[in-house]
Amino acid sequence: MKDYKRLINRKKVPAHIAIIMDGNGRWAKKNSLTRSEGHRQGAEIIEPLMDAAIDMRIKVVSLYAFSTENWLRPRTEILSLWKLLDYFFRSKIDMIRNKGIRIKHSGLQERLPRSTLNTIRHAEHETRSNNKLVLNFCLNYGGRQDILQAVNRWAGRRRGSGKITARQLEGNLLTAGLPPVDLMIRTGGEYRISNFLIWQLAYAELFFTDVLWPDFRPHHLYQAIYEFQNRERRFGGL
Ligand code: IPE
Ligand code: IPE
Ligand code: MG
Repeated sequence: MKDYKRLINRKKVPAHIAIIMDGNGRWAKKNSLTRSEGHRQGAEIIEPLMDAAIDMRIKVVSLYAFSTENWLRPRTEILSLWKLLDYFFRSKIDMIRNKGIRIKHSGLQERLPRSTLNTIRHAEHETRSNNKLVLNFCLNYGGRQDILQAVNRWAGRRRGSGKITARQLEGNLLTAGLPPVDLMIRTGGEYRISNFLIWQLAYAELFFTDVLWPDFRPHHLYQAIYEFQNRERRFGGL
């Protein structure tokens, strides 16, 4: 594989990378492990990727950790995911804080167990003054639900009868304050968005790879950034 890291122009890295971390279940099957073990390995690989993102001076990484449609999965798998999340933040919060990472949760509160919400709120609070990298955890997130809640929130607060503007909509999204996504990466070989950040992805460059999430390494991230830099973004212009 090419040494993509060396080929990257460090002055033109994407500000916001969003990742659909897919393929944990298939990775587990391939390795004769349980799906939970696949998710566990999927969580373990996050740290080196964050180091790489910080090294590249990327400002925001959004991780799709649980979609609003993932509630369709068996209860046992869902419960194992909340357990993993607790473990992840409990065991890694000092490391996250020391690296200068700020945790943000983008997702709906409804249906999430109180303890899971507390865990993620605690992580947000503990890292609130960090500014090297925002790690935006999209947990119980759905792009359509995000737009709906943004419009409803705006409507609930508005005075007068004007129409909603794009700026007002953006200001009410769960990702308010984050820049638009420049590069979206999906692992696991599927070519779809699966209700991820649909508004925020409008002009993102898309990078799909067959690599299963637990096998994704910094050199794959460098490859995606390198490809991103070699595309021509026109935003509808010439
Ligand atoms: C992605 O991996 C992780 C979550 C959705 C939580 P999957 O669990 O979807 O893995 P596959 O797609 O079944 O391999
Ligand atoms: C998308 O993966 C959601 C996350 C990675 C959290 P899924 O595995 O749920 O997506 P589909 O069902 O294949 O579209
Ligand atoms: Mg999947």
